[in-house]
Amino acid sequence: MALLDIIVAPDPRLKRKAEAVTAVDSATKKLMADMLDTMYEAPGIGLAAPQVGVLKRVIVVDAARDEDPPRPLKMANPKILWASEEVKEYEEGCLSLPEEYDMVKRPERVRVRYLDENNAAQEIEADGLLAVVIQHEMDHLEGVLFVDHISSLKRNMILRRLTKQKKFGKRPAAAE
Ligand code: NI
Repeated sequence: MALLDIIVAPDPRLKRKAEAVTAVDSATKKLMADMLDTMYEAPGIGLAAPQVGVLKRVIVVDAARDEDPPRPLKMANPKILWASEEVKEYEEGCLSLPEEYDMVKRPERVRVRYLDENNAAQEIEADGLLAVVIQHEMDHLEGVLFVDHISSLKRNMILRRLTKQKKFGKRPAAAE
């Protein structure tokens, strides 16, 4: 088990587009395992490779509720094949934006194709919280944060707060 450092916004590394994985090899498999450990430790329900400084199209999620058994998903090269026309608004947070939350609208259901940790192609249809988390993490692969979906006024307020925290060395508490 290895815990990775999570990059906190604002940081140019969170704004870059990640590259596709050619194949899920042993190095990618280890990255997925380390990312999952890091996510559970934070604690969070999703993490994307760019958040730990790796510009690869890899995400991990676990949207299971606390009282349910863990349901980890490790995904490389996730691609949305279909998204519902119905949108739903959820309050989102992000491990790279500690203690900041806001409402974001996204398609309610999505069908996603990805490579699993054994390099096998998989498809999943997700709704509810799982659909939100997968789309949120996939945004990170494009250099997009949830604050990019809200008004610039709110976004700037959040980023100013985080900049101040960095400057004064205040250690932010963990968030989703
Ligand atoms: Ni995030």
